[in-house]
Amino acid sequence: MVGAMGFQYLMLVQLTWVGVLLISGTGAAGVAAQLARPNCPDRCGDVEIPFPFGIAEGCYLNGNFNLSCDHSSGVVHTGRNINITNISIEEGQLDISMYVAHQCFDESGFLQTNIKSNRSLSLTAGSAFTVSYTQNVFVAVGCDTYSYFNGFTSNDSFSMGCLSRCTNIPGVVDGSCSGLGCCKVEIPPGLKYFTLEAFSFGNHSEIWSFNPCSYAFVVKQDQFNFSADDLYTLKDKEALPMVLDWAIGDEICENAQSNSNFVCGGNSTCYDPENSSGYRCKCKLGYDGNPYLRDGCQDIDECSKNLDNCDKETQLCNNSPGGFYCSCLEGYEGDYNGTSCHAKVNKSNVINIALGISFGLLVLLAGGWWSSKVVKKRRMIRQKNIFFKRNGGLLLQQQLSSHEANVENTKLFNSKDLEKATDHFNVNRILGQGGQGTVYKGMLADGRIVVVKKSKVVDEGKLKEFINEVVILSQINHRNVVKLIGCCLETEVPLLVYEYVPNGTLSQYVNGQNEEFPLTWDIRLRIVAEIAGAFFYLHSVASIPIYPRDIKSTNILLDDKYRAKVADFGTSRSITIDQTHLTTLVHGTFGHLDPEYFQSSQFTEKSDVYSFGVILAELLIGEKAISSTRTQESKSLATYFIQSVEENNLFDIIDSQVLKEGKKEEIIAVAKLAKRCLDLNGKKRPTMREVAMELEKARMLQKAPKLQQNYEEHEYVQEVVYKPWEASTPSTMSTLSIDTQPLVSFQ
Ligand SMILES: *[C@@H]1O[C@H](CO)[C@@H](O)[C@H](O)[C@H]1NC(C)=O
Ligand SMILES: *[C@@H]1O[C@H](CO)[C@@H](O)[C@H](O)[C@H]1NC(C)=O
Ligand SMILES: *[C@@H]1O[C@H](CO)[C@@H](O)[C@H](O)[C@H]1NC(C)=O
Ligand SMILES: *[C@@H]1O[C@H](CO)[C@@H](O)[C@H](O)[C@H]1NC(C)=O
Ligand SMILES: *[C@@H]1O[C@H](CO)[C@@H](O)[C@H](O)[C@H]1NC(C)=O
Ligand SMILES: *[C@@H]1O[C@H](CO)[C@@H](O)[C@H](O)[C@H]1NC(C)=O
Ligand SMILES: *[C@@H]1O[C@H](CO)[C@@H](O)[C@H](O)[C@H]1NC(C)=O
Ligand SMILES: *[C@@H]1O[C@H](CO)[C@@H](O)[C@H](O)[C@H]1NC(C)=O
Ligand SMILES: *[C@@H]1O[C@H](CO)[C@@H](O)[C@H](O)[C@H]1NC(C)=O
Ligand SMILES: *[C@@H]1O[C@H](CO)[C@@H](O)[C@H](O)[C@H]1NC(C)=O
Repeated sequence: MVGAMGFQYLMLVQLTWVGVLLISGTGAAGVAAQLARPNCPDRCGDVEIPFPFGIAEGCYLNGNFNLSCDHSSGVVHTGRNINITNISIEEGQLDISMYVAHQCFDESGFLQTNIKSNRSLSLTAGSAFTVSYTQNVFVAVGCDTYSYFNGFTSNDSFSMGCLSRCTNIPGVVDGSCSGLGCCKVEIPPGLKYFTLEAFSFGNHSEIWSFNPCSYAFVVKQDQFNFSADDLYTLKDKEALPMVLDWAIGDEICENAQSNSNFVCGGNSTCYDPENSSGYRCKCKLGYDGNPYLRDGCQDIDECSKNLDNCDKETQLCNNSPGGFYCSCLEGYEGDYNGTSCHAKVNKSNVINIALGISFGLLVLLAGGWWSSKVVKKRRMIRQKNIFFKRNGGLLLQQQLSSHEANVENTKLFNSKDLEKATDHFNVNRILGQGGQGTVYKGMLADGRIVVVKKSKVVDEGKLKEFINEVVILSQINHRNVVKLIGCCLETEVPLLVYEYVPNGTLSQYVNGQNEEFPLTWDIRLRIVAEIAGAFFYLHSVASIPIYPRDIKSTNILLDDKYRAKVADFGTSRSITIDQTHLTTLVHGTFGHLDPEYFQSSQFTEKSDVYSFGVILAELLIGEKAISSTRTQESKSLATYFIQSVEENNLFDIIDSQVLKEGKKEEIIAVAKLAKRCLDLNGKKRPTMREVAMELEKARMLQKAPKLQQNYEEHEYVQEVVYKPWEASTPSTMSTLSIDTQPLVSFQ
């Protein structure tokens, strides 16, 4: 992250530097960065002369950088008549022009003596300059050609050559310099002096008609691309571009820094160039200018140059030395040096709105009512956008577009739709309320009845997790799992929209209180099989394993056909153990909690199996997990159940209806399964898969000889469906239990 930022910064610095060059090049800028020493000429012809170079007495650092300007021709050159075409401070390079060595013959095979076949370049040993070995190559061109390239590096001498032949032009390949009409050789590092010589074997006599010359030259690689035309046209080119490296002195930074003549100026750093002696300077990040001048590096005003990333709608860019920061505009508050500011919601804002409204009234009188409405609408849209962004909307959109098929069922609702659906979050629509938020019942425009969950707290740090969970949950498609229909991120806290499950929670039926729908043994078996199937699906079949964690009968809902639907399973794999503990204790689902998990804080899939075992026991005994009617020691249903099984008095505690309807062996099978689920050692518990299969098996066995009865049960269910359940018992209709963690945790 930091690296990437640094890189960006570097790019910016470079861009601005180029910008500065361009601006001062056209002479348009008022305050161009200083290039040369004060009162020194900073250009000669088209070439800018930045310090340490100079063309007048007192303007250059030392004799190495003493340049001459021929004012009549506008040519800059060193004392050794090397013409300079560009000086780069950042790269520590000079573009120069370097002669081409030619050897040409006339029609009768005689050497043209007025053309130089011998060229050399000399940089004094120990001077600031070397021939750049990374940017230049030695090239010879011709069809009857050999060439020599000799010279000295700073501590050695060398001798190289290359030869190139071709008997007819069609053999020559444009862009390829590998022996046919063209050859090239890399040059050694530290090159200080070289000579170029071009020769021919047979005076080009056989091929004179199309190639009378041999050429040898050192050239800037990216400015030379061989083509057949070069065999003719190079004759007219006296010189080609070449690159020199330069540096200050002959010591590395570490040693040079203590010298009195160290030149790097304020807000700059020193660095050692590769493969060459001496040091160079560069401006620190956030500064640009000429680092070789005392006050050359100037702070970049990112704000006025539009290099900042502040959100123009809500933030103000503030330049600071070496950087910038974003602060919130008036009327907005938030993370100052971060990226987000949001509209202030406080009294003064309310007053503002009130003032705005009265002003609007005045304007209305004046006939300007319409425009105030537009302004308000815009502000609302902006507000929605801010919420949407902060709630991770962009992240979700990205996720939704990158996932396949079934995620597209998840809808991004806009806040208006949900306001309409819940009658502006009318208190009459509240199904439940708790520490975590409020649950409303609503009706969508298409007539679907839904549940809208509004959370109380949002932690921006958990947004990514939140969005990931929304994506995972929306991929779940199981008939025994409450479906997430969509969400709305345009409001201050995200809203989640679920399918509405009308018949309350399993816990309301467990102890047979509900006379309208008694839980028969068949139905109990079906419900536990459905629940086990759903958990098996969540554990293993869903694309990412999901561990519901907070399994209990109040989290099992019953739909219009009294089918089980699992809710609130998102208590988030991401939540920390401590939080789970805390909330489970506070919200009293202690009776469902795996004691091993409680002790070790290690959550495993077997912890879910334990909680499921508790539900099995509840349905067998017909009592809730925590009961005040049992004695203190056996307050935990699980303990009570296990004790009874071990003391062989299971049939004393079994629910009377179960006892009446169930076959003894069926009941024993289920009780055994429950006991295995409730084993204190998680490893000995069966997996959810085994549990689901056993229950399915038990159902099949029980169903087979009793088809008739099943049919009746079906009838019964149908009948119940038409009862005006909703109207008669509105208070028992808490669809999603609120006093537990919300489906998706914001903590
Ligand atoms: C700089 O170059 C000019 C012209 O080549 C020469 O007259 C002058 O003496 C040089 N100065 C130094 C300090 O080398
Ligand atoms: C000089 O070199 C810089 C890059 O180093 C380039 O942007 C600029 O255009 C060059 N100027 C001329 C006159 O070639
Ligand atoms: C340098 O410039 C001078 C004056 O314009 C010119 O005569 C000479 O040929 C140039 N040298 C090179 C290598 O281009
Ligand atoms: C090549 O040219 C040189 C000088 O003009 C001459 O002495 C020599 O004989 C020529 N060689 C051939 C093979 O033509
Ligand atoms: C080429 O240069 C070398 C070294 O300076 C010299 O010895 C030789 O005589 C020159 N040759 C010609 C043909 O000028
Ligand atoms: C020349 O100097 C370079 C470093 O400046 C060194 O790596 C190289 O070994 C030297 N070569 C010889 C032949 O001394
Ligand atoms: C050089 O020229 C050849 C042929 O014209 C072309 O295909 C190639 O892309 C060129 N290469 C560069 C680096 O410009
Ligand atoms: C570096 O830049 C800051 C702000 O631009 C300036 O206040 C400070 O004096 C500079 N430091 C030096 C050593 O020039
Ligand atoms: C140039 O420097 C780099 C890095 O310091 C090194 O890896 C490389 O071998 C050097 N090349 C030569 C030719 O010395
Ligand atoms: C934001 O950052 C700037 C520069 O880093 C600093 O001067 C300023 O005090 C910071 N503001 C806040 C509110 O943290």
